[in-house]
Amino acid sequence: MARLRVGVLISGRGSNLQALIDAAATPAYPAEIALVISNRLEAQGLQRAAQAGVPHEAIPARDRAAFAAAADAALRRHRVELIALAGFMRLLDTGFVEAWQDRMINIHPSLLPAFPGLHPQRQALLAGARFSGCTVHFVRPEMDTGPIIAQAVVPVRDDDDEERLAARILAAEHQLYPLAVRLYAEGRLRIGGNRVTVAGGMTADIAALNPAA
Ligand code: GAR
Repeated sequence: MARLRVGVLISGRGSNLQALIDAAATPAYPAEIALVISNRLEAQGLQRAAQAGVPHEAIPARDRAAFAAAADAALRRHRVELIALAGFMRLLDTGFVEAWQDRMINIHPSLLPAFPGLHPQRQALLAGARFSGCTVHFVRPEMDTGPIIAQAVVPVRDDDDEERLAARILAAEHQLYPLAVRLYAEGRLRIGGNRVTVAGGMTADIAALNPAA
């Protein structure tokens, strides 16, 4: 069966991109990485794409509309069916977001709607949260909003600093993102208003991410 063609947008390190590349290396995984786009020339993720033999492009356009036009053209050229934002740290043009509505997802290192925006791990520590985690959601024009597909819960420990908490959350991200892309690729996600239901449920997968639950 044809695999879902995923385009990944990055700005930097690309460890979530790597998790998706690694998942897609399994023939049974229902998605493949068809294109990687970075808005920064020096993004480490571009090297990861090159190493994996995945087509990749840098689009360092300063102007938001120019980036959107170039990215859209490249995504269509590579017949991308789903966009996965993976550490893409730039606001997207509203027209672009609307054009890809329900076909673009994002991962964010907090339990949204808590702690959107920059430094969510620092925000969680400052708020004294006992738990944080990560969220994969469909993208809507407002930053870090949109119907939630999946979340993983991560405890905040008394001796955590931002770096330790970020690393613990990142490990969960690397499990959660490939899971969410798989659910999408299998056609199991239904969006109703702000809620997403997963056909067939996903109890076993979520239990694996949140073993104490
Ligand atoms: C990840 O923690 C991702 O959730 C976050 O940036 C990091 C990118 O790491 N994204 C956001 O904060 C988006 N609002 P990576 O480049 O190694 O995947």
